[in-house]
Amino acid sequence: MLHRAIFFYLAVAVVLLAQVAQAVKREDFKTCDQASFCRRHRQLSAHTLSRYSAIEGSVRLEQHTLSALVEHSDDNVPLRIDINFLSSGTIRVRGQEDAPLVPRFDDTQRYVLRNEGSRLPYAAPHELQLTSETADGQRVHTVSYTNSSLDISVRMTEQPWTLTYLREGRPTMQLNTKGLFKFEHLRGKSDGDNVDDEWEETFRTWTDTKPRGPESFGMDISFVGYKHVYGIPEHTSPLLLKPTRGDSSGYDQPYRLYNLDVFEYEIDNPMSLYGSVPFMLAHSAESTVGVLWLNAAETWVDVTYAKTNAITSFFRRSSSGSESTVDTHWISESGVMDVFLFPGPDAAEVYRQYAEIEELPPLPRDFAIGHHQCRWNYIDEGDVLAVSDKMHEHKIPYDVIWLDIEHTDGKRYYTWDASKFPNPLAMQEKLEHDGHKLVTVVDPHIKRDTSYCVWDDANKQGLFVKDKDGSSNFQGWCWPGDSNWVDSLNPDAVEWLRKQYHLDKYNGSSPNLFIWNDMNEPAVFNGPEITMNKDAKHHGGWEHRDVHNLYGMLYQKAAAEGLRTRESPNKRPFVLSRSYFVGSHRYGAIWTGDNTASWEHLRASVPMILSNNVAGMHFVGADVGGFFGNPDSMLLTRWYQLGMWYPFFRAHAHIDTKRREPWILGEPYLNYIRDAIRERYRLLPYWYTLFREASLTGMPLVRPMWMEFPKEESLFGEDSAFMVGSAIMVVPVTESGEQQSVDIFFPQQEEWYDMHKGIGHHGPLRRSFSVGLADTLVFARGGSIIPTRERQRRSSALMKQDPFTLHIYVSRAGTATGRLYVDDGETYDYEDGAFIERELAFSNATLVSRPSARTISSVARTTFAKSMARVRIERIIITGLRSPTTMATVSEDGKERQIQLGYSGYSADNTECVIRDPAVHINSDWEITLS
Ligand code: NOJ
Repeated sequence: MLHRAIFFYLAVAVVLLAQVAQAVKREDFKTCDQASFCRRHRQLSAHTLSRYSAIEGSVRLEQHTLSALVEHSDDNVPLRIDINFLSSGTIRVRGQEDAPLVPRFDDTQRYVLRNEGSRLPYAAPHELQLTSETADGQRVHTVSYTNSSLDISVRMTEQPWTLTYLREGRPTMQLNTKGLFKFEHLRGKSDGDNVDDEWEETFRTWTDTKPRGPESFGMDISFVGYKHVYGIPEHTSPLLLKPTRGDSSGYDQPYRLYNLDVFEYEIDNPMSLYGSVPFMLAHSAESTVGVLWLNAAETWVDVTYAKTNAITSFFRRSSSGSESTVDTHWISESGVMDVFLFPGPDAAEVYRQYAEIEELPPLPRDFAIGHHQCRWNYIDEGDVLAVSDKMHEHKIPYDVIWLDIEHTDGKRYYTWDASKFPNPLAMQEKLEHDGHKLVTVVDPHIKRDTSYCVWDDANKQGLFVKDKDGSSNFQGWCWPGDSNWVDSLNPDAVEWLRKQYHLDKYNGSSPNLFIWNDMNEPAVFNGPEITMNKDAKHHGGWEHRDVHNLYGMLYQKAAAEGLRTRESPNKRPFVLSRSYFVGSHRYGAIWTGDNTASWEHLRASVPMILSNNVAGMHFVGADVGGFFGNPDSMLLTRWYQLGMWYPFFRAHAHIDTKRREPWILGEPYLNYIRDAIRERYRLLPYWYTLFREASLTGMPLVRPMWMEFPKEESLFGEDSAFMVGSAIMVVPVTESGEQQSVDIFFPQQEEWYDMHKGIGHHGPLRRSFSVGLADTLVFARGGSIIPTRERQRRSSALMKQDPFTLHIYVSRAGTATGRLYVDDGETYDYEDGAFIERELAFSNATLVSRPSARTISSVARTTFAKSMARVRIERIIITGLRSPTTMATVSEDGKERQIQLGYSGYSADNTECVIRDPAVHINSDWEITLS
């Protein structure tokens, strides 16, 4: 026993030392070559014809599905390929053995897709038409899907088997035209058979027993006519994905998607990180298309940029000469092939198509988009309350304070260290009284300790992941020492987990407490690649291999459901998770894990956050300040100035770092940081309205520049400047130095207004700005209306009845539009209409506020509207007015009034006109005309 303890603490010391050493231990993690399935696929050479062919006579169209049996010329094991047409023009390509020896894991869809993957909106069969022809000796089957808005077709060749997706007659996406399709069918093991590590493989000291043998598959997907691809987080690569086949401008490894706890991760690297979202966008000045490769097993993706795509005579004929192509190669270790191709033709349409198969992100709690203060660790109750008081003293708004693992009784989650937190409820009450919330960490490893009732209960009920033998609990090390892992794939375990978050179960928790699920990749300190052995067994006998990338998401899901149902009526939960997968956006926020206090990491946070947003993971942030190391005052200041634009805005730091709460820095830094945080709070109405938009359309909150300016090729590789919604361009300063020169490109024939100075810039324009540490570069796009709340409060909870200010940034045509969405920020009443949503429009010198078309009458709405009846617009600031006027006529509820306008330093450059207290309300229809 003693031995074991010593061994454990040594291991933890090694882990902590590795953190201090500050360099990723690459040797802890596999390269493609060290994962035998990846190696086997990657050694296939592109540009050879595929040896997979459709079996003659097997191709048919039934209902919304074109299907074929496909086999390799060597083995004659039939694979069934189903191409399903969805009503939006999306196609879903599924492939697996027609008669597998044993079933393959096919439940990923259940955990990810709408209605668990059944009842997706398929195309009406009468709109699909199959024609078959023989051209150049090649048998070709084409399904055309034509309705009033779509002209698409899918062309399948028999020999080799390939698939081309055409929009308006032009190929856009192609499968297997590079000949990289390969499907390892399940087979019996012959004695001593382990060719190329198919049946067993060893990585460092770990042997993966692979009881089912080889079962991987891979496929090439080419984007024809494209030169730019984005997405597939989580990596530290630039936003525009670099090539991966050894090109000097790129990587020599594919992007890896296998959720891992990578200490001191490196920037500009395709290695795996904590989350995996196999969703990619390809973009050109003409169109945007997307792909989702729905598989939760370890997956690798190669990217190459090429000139021409045609390899069969048929395709040489149909694609126009030497078109640019992005060739991607997707390789997964197990499960079934399930791929969605989204035809666009623009990003907004791709997200609409994605939303057809996947639920949209829900509205978060309002406090969750405020400022979060975390540290490993706030030591005790006194410390927590002192930090909170200091925030008040220094007039820094914040919403949530966080407790890391040290708050527990020996890393036993759902407990408190009684010597440091003797009275957690009183602490939460005090926080709540001041308008704040508390978050505590709950990791998925449960300390093996018979006297710990959580472990004991889960153990008695058999809720832990099992070892490879399927009967004893999988055991490993994590923070508490010897641990077991609750099986988030087991419905009983999920039910049990949900209950652990209920108020009667989680002692010392109140409705004011929310949750952070960390280490849920899962991290296992003594496991292969710091995670769970692939041959560990989950509910239903499935291997960890099959479900690895789902595990963390399902843990977060259980926590979110637990919080949601702990009160009646239910309230919106807030759960932060480190591990994530496609669909995690439904359960809360994520963050980019253990970054470092360096300028390089500060810069990298932008492409990381953008890539996540591109892939539908909207609610994401990076640790402000950097987790490892001690940022100097300048770096920390710049980090707040950028971090306030992260959708999830949290400061966090490693246990070995120096305290760095803003006041510790002193002036002038404290002042700059306070300004940044206050700006976040001023803009909360804009952010919340953006979250609302995302919950209806799936549009990212923070967007790559190209997404707002899709024809502006010079922006396709831009990943330092970005858009927050469609109205604000942020150009962060991410270099060290008191005075920095920053180059900015203002795209298009647009006006761009410096949001701090009111000065306009006329695009298209390239300009350098010299900025000191007090300055940030934030520009409002002409034509936008941005709602804010300007009163300084301790937290968002205290702003709920505050008046709004409307900022109108006039376009060249003298117009602007915007929206304001408000609800109670915590319940689900908005689903019954309890919200106020206003469409704001400025034209012909008149600003009009009207209810949005989504406004419905209901009891819930009336009650909410009543509660907001006194909330008014206290100020309107119009920037960019051509000619100053002095009076305005306000009409509300049939009554008219005249009011005086004010100008703050009006000049040719600064054309800010202020309407002070127009005394109009957010929930009534009104008009203001300048005269
Ligand atoms: C790892 C997390 O990434 C980090 O944020 C946290 O502070 C530590 N675990 C300790 O819980």
